[in-house]
Amino acid sequence: MSLLTSLSYSPPPSALGPSSSSSFNHHKPISDLHYSSSSYSSVRTDGRSRRRLSTRFRRSHHSAVARSTTITAAVKPEPLKIMISGAPASGKGTQCELIKEKYGLVHISAGDLLRAEVASGTENGKRAKENMEKGMLVPDEIVVMMVKERLLQPDAQENGWLLDGYPRSLSQAKALEDLHIRPDLFILLDVSEDALIERVVGRRLDPVTEKIYHLKYSPPENEEIASRLTQRFDDTEEKVKLRLQTHHRNVEAVLSVYKDLIFKVDGNAPKENVFTEIDGALSSVLEQKSGTDSASVVTGMASLETSLDS
Ligand code: AP5
Repeated sequence: MSLLTSLSYSPPPSALGPSSSSSFNHHKPISDLHYSSSSYSSVRTDGRSRRRLSTRFRRSHHSAVARSTTITAAVKPEPLKIMISGAPASGKGTQCELIKEKYGLVHISAGDLLRAEVASGTENGKRAKENMEKGMLVPDEIVVMMVKERLLQPDAQENGWLLDGYPRSLSQAKALEDLHIRPDLFILLDVSEDALIERVVGRRLDPVTEKIYHLKYSPPENEEIASRLTQRFDDTEEKVKLRLQTHHRNVEAVLSVYKDLIFKVDGNAPKENVFTEIDGALSSVLEQKSGTDSASVVTGMASLETSLDS
């Protein structure tokens, strides 16, 4: 559960004693929720038997507070952890743009990380490019560490992550399992092969905004954008066929690791319709997660009441 959880509680006036005019409305992290006798002594005004009264008061107050506790502050659920998978050009990147905009998740694309490495001209980048040009998977020793490091960065841990194009093999999935990194949902985009080829050939990218376009399905908004669009070096019909073969060779093994988490979507539909389906699934997962987190707060309060009463 998030550290931002806080409790708001107002004990009934009887719990504070006749001389009390205090009203409590504390907001404290659960870890700080403990009471000291001095804080309760301060509500006494007669000054008699301060210590004894304070102790008795503390006991009745504790249980009254615990019993009348209402959780009014929002319980911030654990952030979402989502994987998105599908054949080349099935629309992973396009859906990630929409998911990121609505849910604020950190988009981690294995392909983008690799293209950045290629662009920086490192040894790893050169090796990556050789494999990418052949439509093959880049070796694990380059990809796995790159993705792991990115996933563990604070922004992804705090805001949640959206992992695109990873894992693509059993060994990559196992590398995450070994770190106990598992998604809440594994989205699988299902698109027919003919549509995939048409999408790859017509795809264009805006190097300024990084937005993904398609000459037919998502044309650029104006001439200025159209004139600066670029094409990926592996976006040819010949190369996408190789990428598809690689995808088919590996996909079943990856799905076997996440079989209880798979949400399969018909990716042939227009991108807005695909997103509507994904959005529905993500909202349910979020709802479920906040339900689980609220339940653990209530359980925590029940134990608190027990320990205070004893
Ligand atoms: P990567 O960059 O991940 O490529 P990919 O998996 O082939 O997927 P794409 O990025 O081509 O497509 P997409 O599904 O994101 O579709 P998009 O939204 O752009 O990987 C490239 C290479 O890097 C790999 O081949 C491999 O060599 C290497 N690599 C990557 N990850 C690796 C890993 N984990 N391990 C080892 N090697 C790895 O859409 C495509 C087009 O369709 C766009 O023009 C878009 O506008 C259009 N479109 C999208 N949705 C729709 C829709 N619903 N209707 C109509 N058009 C649509």
